[in-house]
Amino acid sequence: MTVLAEEKNTFYNYLSAFRNITGDAFVFTDEESLDKFAHDETENLYFLPDIVIKPRTAQEISAIMKICNGNRIPVTPRGAGTGLSGGALPHKGGVVISFERMNSILEIDEGNLQVITEPGVITEVLQNAVKEKGLFYPPDPSSRGSCFIGGNVAENSGGPKAVKYGVVKDYVLNLEVVLPNGDIIWTGANVLKNSTGYNLTQLMVGSEGTLGLVTKIVLKLLPFPKYDLLMLVPFNDLQKAGAAVSAIFRAGFMPSALELVEINALKIVSKFVDSTIVPVSDEMEAHLIIELDGNHQEILLTEMEAIAGLLEEFDCGELFFADDAQQKAELWKMRRRTAEAVKLAGYTIEEDTVVPRAALPDLIKGVKALGIQHDFEVVCYGHAGDGNLHIRIKKEGCIYSLNNPDVVPALKALFQLVKSLGGTISGEHGIGLVQKEYMNIIFDEPGMQLMRGIKKLFDPNNILNSGKIFDC
Ligand code: LAC
Ligand code: ZN
Repeated sequence: MTVLAEEKNTFYNYLSAFRNITGDAFVFTDEESLDKFAHDETENLYFLPDIVIKPRTAQEISAIMKICNGNRIPVTPRGAGTGLSGGALPHKGGVVISFERMNSILEIDEGNLQVITEPGVITEVLQNAVKEKGLFYPPDPSSRGSCFIGGNVAENSGGPKAVKYGVVKDYVLNLEVVLPNGDIIWTGANVLKNSTGYNLTQLMVGSEGTLGLVTKIVLKLLPFPKYDLLMLVPFNDLQKAGAAVSAIFRAGFMPSALELVEINALKIVSKFVDSTIVPVSDEMEAHLIIELDGNHQEILLTEMEAIAGLLEEFDCGELFFADDAQQKAELWKMRRRTAEAVKLAGYTIEEDTVVPRAALPDLIKGVKALGIQHDFEVVCYGHAGDGNLHIRIKKEGCIYSLNNPDVVPALKALFQLVKSLGGTISGEHGIGLVQKEYMNIIFDEPGMQLMRGIKKLFDPNNILNSGKIFDC
């Protein structure tokens, strides 16, 4: 960046102050550095920040926020950039605060089954570190190999294990947070029960970086289950696959994952990861991936057989049991890389609908009808056990949904359907930038006013991730 260019940008007046806080090496204005922070995994959106800062401590972030708040400089907090709703995109320019240097696991407390971590730790790294001690942190978004735990907290992420173990909010006990004015607070206590005042911890979880910057996270852990079994079940009717899902729970079983992948998505991802483990037959419309876990192998085998028997009532095809760790890993690789594969195949717009589990067949039917009505190709996959269906859309010439008149009416109709089924717009990806214009389908004005009031209380100058979730 030339000196002349720096002079033209008013945000650059504060560069030397930022450099004094973090050291010169961690404040960036060069094109290549800024470019990396201009996009995420959401559609094809691109917004360049003016400055990227990579602080190391909460105190540094506090000092940065004091400057930004005092001078009305927009700030966008940023994890690994794997988000799917545009929450970490600096659409107003200004400063991006990257958490990539705050990447230490501070303490694994084996006595209390807790971990204290910085937000820039990769989720899978954290999972593996606690697993070495026989402990389990279940929330496992598909991007767990690259996403940051701080981003997971910001979005209240889920993943396949959520069906049995819950989502991120069910594990966060306490947070250190830098508020927009630079104050540093702890939101709760490192305890399993807490009835002390308003639940600031849970207000922060899922607030998409609009209320504060999370700098330390205390998570609850579980003992790691000793065994798991994995089965793949084909169905010749997509809706019957959806109906089988609630029947499994109704019959008294509690899978540790219950995922659905429609045949088109399976074909695309099989090719993408170069796998032939699943025989893909054109007679089939969808597959369920069913996992059971626990500490007694014989019980798991008996239960899996009972589930297999139950699924015959839903006209399932030949079951495939993953025999060993390698087959399990291959099946999971296919499921985890589905979103990436179908995106590359032209299904650029991803939705994150969630309905009560038993309404899944109605959602699937409605989605297919909307696809025909609005002339979209539609493919479904996701966390069927949670009623959380990802819907990807493909239409000639449509590569993004944000303010796109060719897409918005179809999405409005989709979300109205979801609401009529008792569901909502996002189960685990957040609202961010791309879903905010649909918030009023789910919330009436008094609800929206309350949210705006909360935002204003935390961030009166509206500098922190402004224009995400809703406009103030
Ligand atoms: C998945 C991500 C995209 O479930 O949420 O594949
Ligand atoms: Zn998902």
